[in-house]
Formats: sequence, structure tokens, C-alpha cells
Amino acid sequence: MEESVKRLTEETSAKIVACGSVAELNDIRVKVLGKNGELTALLKGMKDLPPEKRPEAGKIVNVARETLENAIATRQSALEKAELEKRLQAEKIDISIDKPVEHIGGLHPLTIMRNRIVEFFSSLGFVVAESPEIETDYYNFEALNIPADHPAREMQDTFFITDSILLRSQTSAGQIRLMEKVKPPIKMISPGRVFRADEADATHSPVFHQVEGLVVDKGITMCDLKGILDLFAQHFFSQDTKTRFRPSYFPFTEPSVEVDASCHHCGGKGCNVCKGTGWIEIMGAGMVNRNVLIGCGIDPDEYTGFAFGGGLDRITNIAYGISNARIPFENDIRFLKQFR
Ligand code: PHE
Repeated sequence: MEESVKRLTEETSAKIVACGSVAELNDIRVKVLGKNGELTALLKGMKDLPPEKRPEAGKIVNVARETLENAIATRQSALEKAELEKRLQAEKIDISIDKPVEHIGGLHPLTIMRNRIVEFFSSLGFVVAESPEIETDYYNFEALNIPADHPAREMQDTFFITDSILLRSQTSAGQIRLMEKVKPPIKMISPGRVFRADEADATHSPVFHQVEGLVVDKGITMCDLKGILDLFAQHFFSQDTKTRFRPSYFPFTEPSVEVDASCHHCGGKGCNVCKGTGWIEIMGAGMVNRNVLIGCGIDPDEYTGFAFGGGLDRITNIAYGISNARIPFENDIRFLKQFR
């Protein structure tokens, strides 16, 4: 009997190691250790032995059972692990696969330019102040020293929503909103959309963009204005761009000027881009009118300031060499693609 147990243990151990699945292993277990299994049969056969040999034989069978049970448990956990690995591998979804992206959008040149202008002025310590596109008559005109009957209103053919609410015709409204809240020193720019009831043509559009600038502090002069605008023009157009001031009139600045930059196309010699003058107008500007400061509760004997309002569309077109002012608004992908 000892021989049979030994042989069965060896054979079964070899099968356990060789088997390839948990199901197969289970069959082996049932066949050997189960109720009608081979080892169980040997145990039952003990009753044929003489009584004095039975304890010894029982021990041998039990040791064999324990050996085989351990072998089965070890093999089972190895098989389970392997089967899990196999399933994980087979059911894996590769989410990293590369799908070619065909149409990636980009920023509109005007947005790129606005961001660059914000960056430029931020580097000089200016803050950005947003103000509403739907504005009141008070902020767009009254507080800017343009009362109801003022002829300067004529220059800005305005979209009125009611008698006192309108689409802002200039970003200058933002000057007032800021000066009411913040006291000097003030250094701000305010880029945004403005609206005027103009027919769309090569140089006009009912919606266009401005960037307003305002500096108020003790001792601010027109030299500061000129210095900042020179830096601006050199930064965005070219190193040798010059600026010039021409006398002008705005009710909210005194004195007022139109600011020209030397023509980027001909360098100031005169060409068809600058209509032979060598200069291109880029903005209106001036020293903040005393009445405006007083209206905002700022003492004009203590503080002075300058303001400018630039045509963002014009500045963008000059900086990028866009010759037709309508193209940026036609949504032509061939044009827009060039700015990615
Ligand atoms: N708001 C003026 C315009 O739209 C421009 C301007 C701004 C002039 C600030 C002077 C100072 O024409």
C-alpha cells in the first residue's frame, strides 16, 4: 500500500504541475482527493490491513493528501494569476491611439493683436479694464464733456437702443467708469468692440475695435504720451517708425491730437498705402480735459493725465500687412490659416 500511495502522489504531483487551467486542476483534485477519488479509495482499502498496520498506513495517506492539497493550492493561485493577466491583456483598450486631427482652429489676427497689445502695456504697468458694450448716454457722451446738443455727437453716428441707452461708439466710456471707481495713479488700457451706424465699405464697418489708454497721475505731460506712443509704434510696426501729432479736437481732451505713424510701406517717402503723405493715422489722443477729471471727483490742479483711443483694426492691419480692411471679417479660411 505504501508503494501505491507513493506512486499516486508522484504521478498526481506531475499532473498538477503540467496542467494548464484551473478547470483541469479541479478535475485532478476530484479524481484523486474527491469522495470517490483514488487516494480516498486507498484510505478505504485500509480496512483490509491488519489492525496494527492501520495507524502507520493512515499517517502515510494523510501526509500524501496534505502534500497534494498544498501542490494544488500553489498551482491554483499561479494559474489564476496567469489567467487574469491573459484577460487583462486581451480586454485592454488602447486609448492612446493617434487619430489625426484635421481642423484645428486658431486665434483671429485681431485677437492675437489685442493680446499682444495687452502684453505690451502690461509690461509698462498698465492694467486692463473692461467696460460694457451696451452703455448709457451718460458714460458714452455726457461725462466725456459731450452734452446732448454738442456737435461732436455728429461724428459718431450712434445706435440708440432707447433715448438713454446705446451701443458704445467709443471705448472712452471706460475712462469714466474707471475714474469713478479708482483714484490716481491710474494706468489702464481697455480694448474692445465699438459700434457706429456706418455703411460697410473698404474702410468702414458698423462694428470695429478700439484700444483705449488712460494715464492719470501727478505731473503727467504730453511728453509722456509721445514717449509711450513712440515705444508702441516701434514695438508693433518697426524699430524706425516715427509718430507725429496733428492738432485735433475731442471734447474730453485738451489739447487734442491725431496720432500718425510713419508709413510702414514706404518708410515715410510717400506711396499709395499712405496716399502719398508718408503718414498713416492710428489714433486720437490728448490730455484729459479738466471738466472730465472734475466730473469723476479728481482734482485737476493736483492731477493731470493723457488718454488715447487707437483703431485696433487699423493697427492690426498695419502690423500684419493686411491691405484690405474687409478681409479679416470675411471668415475666409485661407486668410485665417496664415495666423496659426
Ligand atoms: N474716442 C475717440 C474716438 O473714438 C478717440 C480718443 C480717445 C481721443 C481718447 C482722445 C482720447 O474718436
